[in-house]
Amino acid sequence: MGVVPFAVVGDGRRGRAYVEFATAPEEWTKREPHFLDNSDLPNNPRDFKTPNYGLTTFADLFTPRQLVALTTFITYQSRGMKVDVAIDGPAAPFYEKGRAFYYRTRGQFDLACYQCHDANAGKMLRGERLSEGHTNGFPSYKLKWQEVGSTHRQFRRCNSLARSEPYDYGADEYVNLELYLAYRGRGLPIEAPSVRP
Ligand code: HEC
Repeated sequence: MGVVPFAVVGDGRRGRAYVEFATAPEEWTKREPHFLDNSDLPNNPRDFKTPNYGLTTFADLFTPRQLVALTTFITYQSRGMKVDVAIDGPAAPFYEKGRAFYYRTRGQFDLACYQCHDANAGKMLRGERLSEGHTNGFPSYKLKWQEVGSTHRQFRRCNSLARSEPYDYGADEYVNLELYLAYRGRGLPIEAPSVRP
């Protein structure tokens, strides 16, 4: 399903204003999606109807922007609670993969996540102070983005910073990494949606 924007809606002095979408739609749709959940919807025709119509994944049902909004709303319900995830049982192999990803060097600069966010946390990198790379503030409003973005968007940015090829939104590698980072940040209060530079 493609997306074709046709108007921008804003609150004007005399109520809602609808302004024609000035930028060419082709340009707009070239912008990268912020989150795509490509996982399958339940395929049970008696309970869940959309697969009958060819809409088989979450990404088919919602636009990336809607998914970020939904994730933000759901995470917000846990605001103030402490991050806590299970890494035993069926989660164990995914946790191990996420952990391995975090420590593996990659890209032209041959850097691993931990080298920036553990070994050099607190130091400056081209005008940005390196944090410990926790995810308890996500989805996060980044001033850089001027909007709320997902952990996967952040991972893509970090991969690019180290000149390594980013993975797709919703990629298994990033889902595993999310689990590892949640465990690594266990006990931190959930702050989503946070505001960060
Ligand atoms: C070249 C250094 C570098 C590498 C390598 C790197 N990052 Fe980052 N990361 C940054 C910078 C710069 C920021 C923005 C400032 C900050 O929050 O640290 C950032 C931000 C983050 C944040 C947001 C923290 C917050 O509180 O908003 C997370 C999460 C994160 N990185 C995770 C990762 C993961 C996972 C990897 C490995 C795939 C990784 N980073 C690799 C530089 C790096």
